Amino acid sequence: MSEHIHPIFERLLSRREREERLGQRSCTFWLTGLSGSGKSTLAQGLERRLFEAGFFPQVLDGDNIRTGISNNLGFSPEERRENIRRIAEVARLYCQSGLIAICSFISPTVAIRAMARDIIGADDFVEVHVHAPLAVCEARDVKGLYQKARAGEIRGFTGIDAPYEQPPEPDLRLDTHEQDLEDSLDLLFTFARQRVEQP
Ligand code: ADX
Repeated sequence: MSEHIHPIFERLLSRREREERLGQRSCTFWLTGLSGSGKSTLAQGLERRLFEAGFFPQVLDGDNIRTGISNNLGFSPEERRENIRRIAEVARLYCQSGLIAICSFISPTVAIRAMARDIIGADDFVEVHVHAPLAVCEARDVKGLYQKARAGEIRGFTGIDAPYEQPPEPDLRLDTHEQDLEDSLDLLFTFARQRVEQP
């Protein structure tokens, strides 16, 4: 038996070996929040800062997920669930490859984020709530979508006529209406670096 197991074991690269090579501890930073809360900007800022500090991060957000692996999905509760399930599976693979995944998705309900946590594994799932009140996100209206939702041109828009449940106990909460984006990013980067540094 052992002569069969041994060669296979030697061929399989472990997560630890990959992490050693990359000089980091992998995990998934899961950014949740309303549209317009600042998630994607912070995710991309964190990616840049970690990379410049010598780490190897990868952002997953609407730009690379909803145009690709989830391009057949809309925004019904079932489709959002399937969207998040796929993203969590991808993030899990990234973690196993020793990478740092930074996921930026509304992921609107406690249940949908619990599913992501289950898929990724609780030890690797770091929840960050990017928070600004709905009124602030709506006033920013970066993509003009809140206006369309108010006008009834988009149905089931998160915060307007679809729910957003705040995470009761996130690992980190950033109040983007109370501080500059740079200050939020500093907090996020300092927090994230502690998590990914090798002891
Ligand atoms: S999630 O609910 O499945 O996590 P995801 O983060 O991928 O959502 O996509 C949210 C982005 O899609 C928003 O920032 C917005 O630009 C766009 N969008 C289009 N329709 C909707 C909708 N009905 N509700 C929320 N966001 C929408």
